[in-house]
Amino acid sequence: MILRIRRLAVAALILAGTRVGMGADKCFECHTAIADKPSTQFAHDIHHRAGVTCAGCHGGDATTDDPEKAMNKEGNFIGVPKGDVISARCAACHADSVRMAGYHVVLPANQFALLKESVHGQKSISGKERIVQCTTCHGAHGIVPVRDPASPVSPLKIVATCSSCHSNATYMRAYNPALPVDQREKYRTSVHGMKNARGDAKVAECVSCHGTHGILPVKDVRSKVFPVNLPSTCANCHSNAAYMKPYGIPTDQYEKFTRSVHGIALLKKNDLGAPACNSCHGNHGAAPPDIESVSKVCGICHSLNADLFAASPHKQAFDERHLPECETCHGNHDIEPATSTLLGVSSDAVCSRCHTPTDNPQGYSAAQVMRLQIDSLELSEQRAQALVAQAEQEGMEISEAKYRLRDIHQARLEARTTVHAFNAPRFATAVDKGLVVSASVAIEAQGALDEYIFRRIGLGISTLIISILAASLYLYIRRIEKR
Ligand code: HEC
Ligand code: HEC
Ligand code: HEC
Ligand code: HEC
Ligand code: HEC
Ligand code: HEC
Ligand code: HEC
Ligand code: HEC
Ligand code: HEC
Ligand code: HEC
Ligand code: HEC
Repeated sequence: MILRIRRLAVAALILAGTRVGMGADKCFECHTAIADKPSTQFAHDIHHRAGVTCAGCHGGDATTDDPEKAMNKEGNFIGVPKGDVISARCAACHADSVRMAGYHVVLPANQFALLKESVHGQKSISGKERIVQCTTCHGAHGIVPVRDPASPVSPLKIVATCSSCHSNATYMRAYNPALPVDQREKYRTSVHGMKNARGDAKVAECVSCHGTHGILPVKDVRSKVFPVNLPSTCANCHSNAAYMKPYGIPTDQYEKFTRSVHGIALLKKNDLGAPACNSCHGNHGAAPPDIESVSKVCGICHSLNADLFAASPHKQAFDERHLPECETCHGNHDIEPATSTLLGVSSDAVCSRCHTPTDNPQGYSAAQVMRLQIDSLELSEQRAQALVAQAEQEGMEISEAKYRLRDIHQARLEARTTVHAFNAPRFATAVDKGLVVSASVAIEAQGALDEYIFRRIGLGISTLIISILAASLYLYIRRIEKR
């Protein structure tokens, strides 16, 4: 509405022969007469409508019909701008908010500054010139508002615009041979890409994940796709219930993720080994991992668990029932630290969801036994720790036993992983390893304590003997003195 009123006002001014900010555009008039491409495209350019003349970018005198005067290179006519001069021309208005206000438009004035600092401004350089200028994405003539579906930067066109370079292997090799050129191909297979191709302008495209003017190398810690920043980039849309409403999918992924063991590791502890959204969903192939690929996704990092699972009786049982492998017990976005409460037949154990004394009973008894075993390992670990601590407090030398506490802990960790074989005898072997170590540590610590007590008694007795000797010596001396 406002736009329409402004256009009407501009049209009225044009009719009155006075253009906003500038005089009549004689350049445009003469070039329209020649019917060249720039003037044909310029007829529907937003700059033309706003009263910017050809001279706005090319310089020269737009008020004269005389081509010699109009395009006087001795004056300020620059001819066809090339290289960095192009962006500098655009910036002469777009980076100058006062000048822009003169056109009664309110637009951000940061595009030039951002572009200069971006990967495209810093690294994509040929000779002395940047290869990405404002016109690379926006074009030079026939520029329309960025929200207009005809704009090369609108959501449905931007993929082609970025890919004109990024999918061109020969071209990209000249700048960064190590950079993959498969983004568009992968993107096309994703839920985002398929919907974008079908005309859905709300799904993520290149700039929703990478940014616009200030695109940074993906390894830059400030990049929107750097692991610690990525979850909130995805959440811009996926946690926006109103935005996502038409799709009817949950919008709690980010919220759950930030509370999960992975989210805490990544976002609070800055552990770059922990997964961000793209570790599981892919960068450009963003699709929910299907049932077959979930275990592969988790197995990238948890390879031991995945290998054990693949050889376990659950593999076939889950496949037949179309159950995802790891997700069934651990969830996906809200994965919590694993503890032994997951194991067993109590109501909060995951095993009891499928195993009861009547349903799949072998698994039931296995779960019961495994829980008892892991509990006994935990108890014996605690006992060994307590004894070692006590002996240490009494000042006994027991560094070796203390060191071997780590072996118990290690065995406990191995046993937790071995759960995934879902094989009670194998689990028992893993637990036994820990039990053996903790028993020997406990014996050693107990031995040290016994020795301590023995020494205390020995010390007591010798003190007593010495005291008696001293007393009798004293008495003896006194007797001699009396004499
Ligand atoms: C009276 C007609 C006329 C006017 C007025 C005019 N031009 Fe031109 N302009 C031409 C013609 C004709 C050519 C083509 C010259 C050629 O092809 O060698 C041209 C060429 C150009 C070129 C290409 C130059 C190059 O080096 O390739 C630019 C840019 C240009 N004009 C911009 C402008 C601007 C900006 C203005 C106003 C300040 C303007 N023209 C005014 C007729 C005009
Ligand atoms: C918003 C800035 C801008 C405006 C306004 C503008 N041009 Fe250009 N023009 C450029 C740039 C930048 C180039 C350099 C080539 C490129 O990047 O596509 C160019 C190139 C040209 C060329 C060289 C041929 C070509 O297509 O490459 C001609 C001729 C030309 N412009 C004429 C005009 C005329 C006539 C007008 C007004 C009707 C005009 N320009 C308005 C920015 C502008
Ligand atoms: C790598 C491609 C690319 C380059 C280079 C680029 N732009 Fe943009 N520009 C975009 C996209 C995409 C948008 C739409 C942003 C959005 O979705 O909100 C945009 C939006 C804009 C807007 C609308 C206001 C805004 O900031 O969102 C202006 C004005 C603009 N660009 C000017 C420029 C200028 C001036 C330059 C050169 C200094 C430039 N652009 C360089 C892609 C680019
Ligand atoms: C003489 C000043 C001036 C120059 C030079 C100029 N622009 Fe603009 N530009 C404007 C004005 C004014 C508008 C706003 C028009 C409106 O919204 O009515 C605009 C709008 C735009 C928009 C549309 C923003 C939107 O609302 O979506 C883009 C994109 C853009 N310019 C890109 C460029 C590029 C690229 C160049 C250089 C090739 C350039 N401009 C050079 C003044 C200028
Ligand atoms: C859903 C978000 C998303 C979309 C959409 C997206 N990207 Fe990416 N892009 C990423 C992530 C995440 C990375 C990898 C970051 C990392 O390696 O840590 C990446 C990496 C890149 C890289 C570095 C090389 C590479 O492939 O690892 C380039 C170049 C790139 N993207 C360009 C594009 C282009 C071009 C498009 C549009 C066709 C696009 N991206 C669409 C998220 C996205
Ligand atoms: C004119 C060609 C060109 C266009 C168009 C272009 N790029 Fe680039 N881009 C490059 C080049 C060249 C590099 C490599 C710079 C380097 O690493 O040396 C690059 C680097 C990148 C990187 C950083 C990759 C890394 O090193 O981590 C991302 C991300 C990226 N571009 C995204 C985009 C997006 C998104 C668009 C569209 C909005 C786009 N590019 C448009 C040429 C282009
Ligand atoms: C610009 C908004 C936007 C951004 C940013 C975005 N997405 Fe999406 N995403 C969507 C929309 C819209 C859909 C379509 C939902 C549908 O059809 O179910 C979608 C679909 C998905 C799907 C498929 C869901 C399904 O089952 O249909 C996954 C997975 C996904 N996005 C992951 C991501 C990840 C990971 C990121 C960040 C790297 C991300 N998205 C960034 C808007 C976005
Ligand atoms: C540890 C792996 C993992 C991480 C990290 C992860 N996801 Fe998922 N995501 C999954 C799995 C597995 C599914 C479910 C696939 C299924 O069951 O069909 C899923 C499903 C989805 C869906 C489809 C709708 C739904 O909720 O079922 C969207 C959208 C999604 N994830 C977005 C995200 C976003 C955004 C992030 C980051 C904040 C993220 N995911 C982090 C594994 C992960
Ligand atoms: C990119 C690597 C990566 C991927 C992919 C990944 N994880 Fe993790 N995961 C980790 C890291 C690192 C930790 C340790 C976090 C911490 O405790 O600091 C972890 C922790 C865990 C824990 C808790 C372990 C404990 O000691 O309590 C579970 C359970 C888990 N992940 C399950 C999964 C599942 C299920 C998937 C697939 C849906 C998955 N992970 C995908 C890296 C990953
Ligand atoms: C049938 C249920 C079940 C399935 C399926 C399952 N887990 Fe577990 N997982 C457990 C239980 C129970 C524990 C806790 C053991 C403990 O702490 O005593 C656990 C512990 C873990 C741990 C922490 C211990 C360690 O190994 O570091 C990780 C990581 C883990 N699981 C990953 C996975 C992955 C990856 C998959 C898929 C390949 C998977 N889990 C499948 C039940 C399951
Ligand atoms: C999603 C359901 C489900 C969950 C959860 C589950 N199981 Fe199972 N389990 C099965 C099915 C189905 C079989 C195959 C039953 C059969 O063939 O009798 C099975 C088989 C087993 C077997 C092999 C029994 C045999 O035939 O020798 C063991 C051992 C086992 N489960 C242990 C566990 C343990 C321990 C847990 C908890 C950590 C657990 N299961 C969680 C469904 C589940």
